[in-house]
Parts: sequence; structure tokens; C-alpha cells
Amino acid sequence: MRAFVDLHLHIDGSISLENARQLASLQQIAIPDSEDALRSLLQVRDGCCDLNEFLGKFSFPCSLLQTKEALKKATETLLKELHAQQVSYAELRFAPQKHSDTLCQKQAIEAVLEGMAKGPIPSALILCCMRDKGNEEENLETLSLAKEFQGKGVVAIDLAGAEALYKTNEFGYIFEKARKENIPFTIHAGEADGPQSIWDAINFGATRIGHGIRAIEDPVLMEELAKRKIPLELCPTSNVCTGLYKDLRDYPLRAFLDKGIVVTINTDDMSVCGTTLSLEFEKLKEALQLTGEEIAVLQENAQKAAFSKE
Ligand code: ADE
Ligand code: ZN
Repeated sequence: MRAFVDLHLHIDGSISLENARQLASLQQIAIPDSEDALRSLLQVRDGCCDLNEFLGKFSFPCSLLQTKEALKKATETLLKELHAQQVSYAELRFAPQKHSDTLCQKQAIEAVLEGMAKGPIPSALILCCMRDKGNEEENLETLSLAKEFQGKGVVAIDLAGAEALYKTNEFGYIFEKARKENIPFTIHAGEADGPQSIWDAINFGATRIGHGIRAIEDPVLMEELAKRKIPLELCPTSNVCTGLYKDLRDYPLRAFLDKGIVVTINTDDMSVCGTTLSLEFEKLKEALQLTGEEIAVLQENAQKAAFSKE
């Protein structure tokens, strides 16, 4: 039984200080000695920000993740850390096109899969396409690699990046093909952009939604998500870090639960947000006085919503 499940976790956003030091030493890359200085490279400052500033925090960890050895080691270390945090299954995600200084996308994926195979807990991989302009070829390559590695560790694709700058409806070219090729997908939607982004994602055929919290602004959408039982990968602390909520006491989780929407709790980016899965639950428990029953529902939702049922 998978007791404690994280379905939405970016590898590059979840590189701990120790992991970063190990990667830097492996590659003889100079990084700050001071704990605080290193942390400020990996983690957003308090009172950050918006999603665009938040996404700026990924350039440092990505710079440490440009070789096969580094990607493999980082993934294995991350899974060891998750195991130590009592996480029993994780769906990791990353965008292979962000690790192509010297590697091709396929090599980057192989390296992460090798790291996953060495990890102490079961895991599956979601490949992120990126919201950008002029990267259609890279996104389609990611999709075709998802097909190649489907059943070999890769379970789905995703669309990550600056949602407000590059709207979901611009990316039909990826998801029409994914649907034809039977590749399941989740899409980051309803995070920096409003409910229309979630409508676009479900109209494309997304079977899960990354974040989706801004569905709260649209009662018809809330009904639709409940009726169709489309799981939302909520990431509460991340939503505070990107300025969506000032305080978790304002987080509308209970409205989703009360409506019967399949919500799950996830970390998104453990190091960028300074969080862990157990911390997410602790903070929600305190902020919203979640009951044991509600916590059990959230955890059961995550087990059922996993792309991999193995
Ligand atoms: N990449 C990493 N974290 C992300 C987030 N919260 N939204 C969009 N893209 C991301
Ligand atoms: Zn995310």
C-alpha cells in the first residue's frame, strides 16, 4: 500500500543543499561555502513574488544538471531523501529540453531513469514540455520520447513554465498528438492564469491538472471537475511562494473537498519552496484544522490518481 504519495514534484526544483553540494563537487563547479548563500540560490525569498520570479530560481539547479552522471546522481539522491521523509511513491517530472547544454533529450531521460532505478522507493517519470516561443520542435521531441519510453518508466507528459505569458490554448499542437498516441497528460493550469486555462487543459483531454487552484473562481468549472472526477495536483506552499495566497489560512482546499473534487496535496518544488510533503500536511492541518478523515481522503485521492498503478 502506498501510504504517502507525491504526484507533482519537479526534479530541478527539489535539489537539496546536500544534493547541490554533491553535484557541484562531482563536476568541480564552484558554489558558495555558506549555507545561507547556497540556500538563497536554491530557494525563493520570503515575500516572493510571482510565477515569473519563481521560475528564475531554476537556472542555478539546472546548471548543476547538465551531464548524465549529474542527472542520475541527483535523481537517486532525491529518491533517498523522499524515502527518509516517509514518501512511499513519487511521480517525478522534469523537462529534458532544459538539460541539453551537452546532452540530447534522450540522454537526459535515460540518465534520470537510471537514477530512478537505483532509488529506494518506486517512482515514475513525467516529461515536461515547456511554455515558450520557438521551441515547438523541442516539445514535439519530448512527446515522441514519451512514446518511446512509455512503459519503461515514463508515464505521462506535462506542460510547465510561464502560464500567464504563454497561454494554454497555444499548445494544442502537443496535446492533439499526445491524445492520438495514447500518452496521458497533466497540464500546469489555473496557477498563474485563470479558470480558462483549466478549461483549455480539460478540453485538450488532460486527465489530471497541475495546480488547478484557480478553478475556485468559476463555479461551473468546479461542477465539471467534480462530475468528471479530474484529479487536481494542488501545491499549497508553492501557491504561497508565487503570491497566489498570502497565508495558507486563505487556501480554499475545503471548498474543493466539500464539492467532492478529487484533490491531492503535493510539493511542486521542495527546495525552491523550502517544503516537504509532510510539512505540507502539517501546515494545512494547522491552518485549516483539517480532520484526520480529510487527510485520509487527500492521501487516498493521490494513490488513486497516480498515472502508474503498479
Ligand atoms: N516549473 C517548476 N515549477 C513550476 C510551477 N509551479 N509552475 C510552472 N512551471 C513550473
Ligand atoms: Zn509544477
